[in-house]
Amino acid sequence: MRTTVGIIGGGPAGLLLARLLHRAGIDCVVLENRTREYVEQRQRAGMLEQGTVDALGEAGAAERLAAEGMVHQGIELRFAGERHHIDFPALTGGRTVTIYAQTEIVKDLVALQLAEGPPLLFGAEALAVEKAESETPVVRFLHQGREQTLSCDWVAGCDGFHGISRDAFPPAVSRAYRHDYPYSWLGILADVPPSCEELIYARSERGFALHTMRSPRVSRLYLQVPGGTDPADWPDERIWDELAARFAIDADWTLRRGPITAKSVTAMRGYVHEPMRHGRLLLAGDAAHIVPPTGAKGLNLAVSDVRVMARALAELYRTGNTQLLDSYSELCLQHVWQATRFSDDMTRMLHVQPDGDAFDDRMQLARLRRITASRHAAAELAANYSGLPLHV
Ligand code: APR
Ligand code: PHB
Repeated sequence: MRTTVGIIGGGPAGLLLARLLHRAGIDCVVLENRTREYVEQRQRAGMLEQGTVDALGEAGAAERLAAEGMVHQGIELRFAGERHHIDFPALTGGRTVTIYAQTEIVKDLVALQLAEGPPLLFGAEALAVEKAESETPVVRFLHQGREQTLSCDWVAGCDGFHGISRDAFPPAVSRAYRHDYPYSWLGILADVPPSCEELIYARSERGFALHTMRSPRVSRLYLQVPGGTDPADWPDERIWDELAARFAIDADWTLRRGPITAKSVTAMRGYVHEPMRHGRLLLAGDAAHIVPPTGAKGLNLAVSDVRVMARALAELYRTGNTQLLDSYSELCLQHVWQATRFSDDMTRMLHVQPDGDAFDDRMQLARLRRITASRHAAAELAANYSGLPLHV
């Protein structure tokens, strides 16, 4: 097989990149090793920055998002029995955020690609990226029991944290930065209307808890648990009791309970691979970076990477100009490190540190009080959460 851009991975990064390239008239092929059913049901993020909503619009994939997405005017910080609303539009000059599940984005992008192209191969496992330093890189992959090759001008490594694209970077040029947080998130989906219109980030002496949602009828909630927790150790009643205790405030508010339909534990880590380009191989999304989910940045970073990559490749094929392509890695990494910094700040401010002491507790409360008492501090949180501008 031959194409202009070989895309490894049919998650949000790979699928959105394919859409943007297709609309720019650039041929590409997406190789996804899982099945369509698997990628469409994988429970992940749901908080979209305005830039992500815009990118899905540019890709012609925002119709259902416009109809079903839930625009939020901010978030609630809950601590020491108090509740504080952070008003994004008032603090950012109008920017805000939208809740729309990643599963729905993937469904929308898959449906479009199967209907209009470019080719999307499920069950196609990329084995290696070869000759990345040459002008004719090749992706070796397994599909329908046969080993095949995809010859390309460029390869986009959109194959997530557990993919194979990073393996094509020679050790001499590859730098990985990693931090594993000493706790995880137990996440649930529940068939019960949200208990609040917006997200609640709760810092409790018992541990962090997050209230979010997927629709007016489905709640999504997370609670901090020790690393390595087995979801089987958390029967539904225990989850609801612990969540209620962590969200408790001195006000008339109760956590709605209902049937839990999904339960999983996610490790908390930060990871950045530098550079994000080697020869004709470009990394995007989780293949290049992982952020702790407290800042809701993972999906939005994947989108910002592929927006830059699509612009850079379109410029190359339209004008021969390689300037944006040559600065791809540096430009994305500036944005990635700022999102990682924000996600790390939110994580350390809101989670009980297992090895922390009373001083650490007071530091967390002092940070939260600064945000809820100072418009400047609140505006800094709102600016980061709703999405820092990408200087392209
Ligand atoms: N060959 C083909 N496909 C592969 C391979 C491979 N060797 N390895 C992984 N994949 C596929 C995975 O099955 C997955 O569908 O690549 C895709 C990567 O998608 P994601 O992991 O969702 O990563 P990305 O597209 O960058 O999106 C980032 O997803 O993980 C969340 O929190 C993250 O919200 C963020 C978003
Ligand atoms: C989600 O809706 O899944 C979500 C929202 C905000 C976060 C993390 C997850 O910080």
